[in-house]
Amino acid sequence: MPILNKLVIFDENNIEDSLKKAISSEPQDVVMEIRESGLKGRGGAGFPTGTKWLLARSAHADKKFVVCNADEGEPGTFKDRILLDEYTKLVFEGMVIAGYAIGAQKGFLYLRGEYRYLFDKLTKYLEQMRKENRLGNNILGSNYSFDIEIRLGSGAYVCGEESALIESLEGHRGEARNRPPYPVNTGYLGYPTIVNNVETFAVAHIIVAKGAEWYSKYGTSKSTGTKLLSISGDCKKPGVYEVPFGTTISDILKLVEAENTKAVQVGGASGFCIPKAEFDRTVAFEDVSTGGSVIIFNETRDMLQVLENFMEFFVEESCGQCTPCRIGNVKLLEGLMKIRNNDCSLSYIHELVDLGRSMQIASKCGLGQSSPNPFISIMEHFENEIFSQR
Ligand SMILES: Cc1cc2nc3c(=O)[nH]c(=O)nc-3n(C[C@H](O)[C@H](O)[C@H](O)COP(=O)(O)O)c2cc1C
Ligand code: SF4
Repeated sequence: MPILNKLVIFDENNIEDSLKKAISSEPQDVVMEIRESGLKGRGGAGFPTGTKWLLARSAHADKKFVVCNADEGEPGTFKDRILLDEYTKLVFEGMVIAGYAIGAQKGFLYLRGEYRYLFDKLTKYLEQMRKENRLGNNILGSNYSFDIEIRLGSGAYVCGEESALIESLEGHRGEARNRPPYPVNTGYLGYPTIVNNVETFAVAHIIVAKGAEWYSKYGTSKSTGTKLLSISGDCKKPGVYEVPFGTTISDILKLVEAENTKAVQVGGASGFCIPKAEFDRTVAFEDVSTGGSVIIFNETRDMLQVLENFMEFFVEESCGQCTPCRIGNVKLLEGLMKIRNNDCSLSYIHELVDLGRSMQIASKCGLGQSSPNPFISIMEHFENEIFSQR
């Protein structure tokens, strides 16, 4: 699948020799360029990338690590797969540049188990990079050495959460760690580690080539640049699209030729349901924030069924470590089953919305903190429809 509507970042004309440029600069200048660009992490949480790299660079340790999060487990997301397959150079060289910037010698690509079919192709690409002296010892004749290893995940959604991912990399069961300490100080094997999304590394590569000033002309002042969206559901042209931050939901719907749209789930199962009345809202960290998943529902869709699908996913994927998430998701799903069986009052659903709000605060990691989002937002906008249909 190609990237449709390529604008800036993924225009092949912009793919220059950033690696050479980075390695002939001072590492701190690379970090500063990324900071000045305003780049925020593309995995969903939107943490400023330059700040993450600066914290890891400032940490004192014999070893540091770079991890590319290619777990891509959020339902409705498939843009990282396209980047890995078709823009491999941007991703791997972006990791080398990050390693140089923070002072790391080793990187891992944590590849989603379902993307095993890409393993051989990516391994060959790394071999080619070593032959070209773009990876390995004394990269491009410099005194900087860095290598990348690919590790496969096994299909657990929680392993996309950075601390659970690090546990999995270390060979343990994938469970979230208590934070702080954060990976930038205490990450893989206790060493400072940056974990960034596939798209974040690819964009960093382009920023090094074109400069922070050029990059920050795109998007909004708080969300610079562009975003890759994986768009699926009820539309004529699903696919991966590059749009500038600040694009409205209605413009996205026009782009993919969606008709009679009732709601758009932005941010995947753990994201928010945006109803028709709010289609003038924008994709931006300050408005509707997303790791890239956009799922479109037209007038024919049963929102109760949509919500049941999401909650079944979370019941299945909760790692079970903490009570709010382990029990809370089951309770939310049971409530939906009660509605389906005409055995549920509106006041009970309101109690469950309150339970969801408690889960957002009390759960240990991002999974349980975000799993009530679709329940709360779908009930907020479609409660009447859901109850009147039964
Ligand atoms: C349950 C869960 C799953 C996640 N899955 C992913 C994922 O597949 N890919 C990803 O980049 N970030 C994922 N994240 C976010 C990561 O924890 C982390 O914030 C991100 O990799 C940091 O990279 P960034 O700053 O470049 O966005 C997930 C978070 C949670 C709570
Ligand atoms: S919030 Fe859920 S996934 Fe995260 S630690 Fe608790 S039980 Fe595990």
